[in-house]
Amino acid sequence: MEPINLRSDTQTLPTEQMFEAIKRAPLGDDTADEDPTVQKLESMAAEIMGKEAALLVISGTMGNLVSLMAHGHAGDEVLLDRESHIFYYECGSLAGVAGLMPMPLDSEKGMLDPDHLQGAIRHGNMHHPVPRLLCLENTHNRSGGRVMPLELHRSLCAVAKEHGLAVHLDGARIFNAAICEGVEARFFAQDVDSLMFCLSKGLSCPLGSVVVGSRSFIEKADWARKRIGGGMRQAGVIAAAGIVALESMIDRLEDDHRHARVLAEGLLEIPGLDVDLESVESNMVLVDHSGTDMAHEALMERLSKAGVLVSSRPPHHVRFVTNRHHDSDTITEALIRVKAALS
Ligand SMILES: Cc1ncc(COP(=O)(O)O)c(C=O)c1O
Repeated sequence: MEPINLRSDTQTLPTEQMFEAIKRAPLGDDTADEDPTVQKLESMAAEIMGKEAALLVISGTMGNLVSLMAHGHAGDEVLLDRESHIFYYECGSLAGVAGLMPMPLDSEKGMLDPDHLQGAIRHGNMHHPVPRLLCLENTHNRSGGRVMPLELHRSLCAVAKEHGLAVHLDGARIFNAAICEGVEARFFAQDVDSLMFCLSKGLSCPLGSVVVGSRSFIEKADWARKRIGGGMRQAGVIAAAGIVALESMIDRLEDDHRHARVLAEGLLEIPGLDVDLESVESNMVLVDHSGTDMAHEALMERLSKAGVLVSSRPPHHVRFVTNRHHDSDTITEALIRVKAALS
């Protein structure tokens, strides 16, 4: 039995068109600004996001890190959600590499509160670190792909600006968020100083993320990338797939969202499983399995034996993520297997 892999959108494989584009891409030494394919991708990304410039990096984590390094000086304070990817999953690079001081904030399933943010920004006291940056994340990974509405995004940016803070958006899945909000991704880029989005994940590239911002910001980020060993040579092999992704893989993310909803509704009907349908907005489904009375590891093993691979969110949750390798038959089959595994 072929397993159905619903662990993540990071599991996607490159498309045939990407392999073809990689084979044909004109290449050069990108560290000397001589790779035409990288330059094409970076101009496309800047144009799509309505920013002056863009920088290709290896990963989302690297994109966030070089952005933080470009925004702050050692000891500066960064305000961010305590459940954000930067705070939770990036090995402490915010402090350990960029030298910045995190000020973790509570959020309601990834949604920061503008009044709470306002109260958390400390000013005018030499005992405190200098508040420098607000980080946002959209869609929000740990809350199960929740979308921060554009209006809330704008309110949070306005509070940050009022206090002289820059804003960085971890938009690893910003195209998913934009589709859900029914706007172009550039609307989310408008009010922020930097935005990172991933070419991997739902867009299916084998690797690569892009940071966008003003020209002077991208110059600093480029320097930071070089400093941490992220300068690349014939990086057009990465950019070529990225160009295909930007040209042809964005609109289809809507299919992943539709499949996630069908999956969520089906999972909710299985005894012992609970899904907050309201929070299923993009391509992720967080499932609470407390009602099965099974230990987390035992449940993960049952699902795996039944040919359904999911991510573990202990102690009581598992996460299903849809991607381009799933169609409606795959979702139906996954539901049959989960039901059988838990009955
Ligand atoms: C919201 C978010 N930001 C950043 C990243 C990091 O991306 P990468 O795995 O390419 O380093 C991820 C990865 O899943 C993510 O979900």
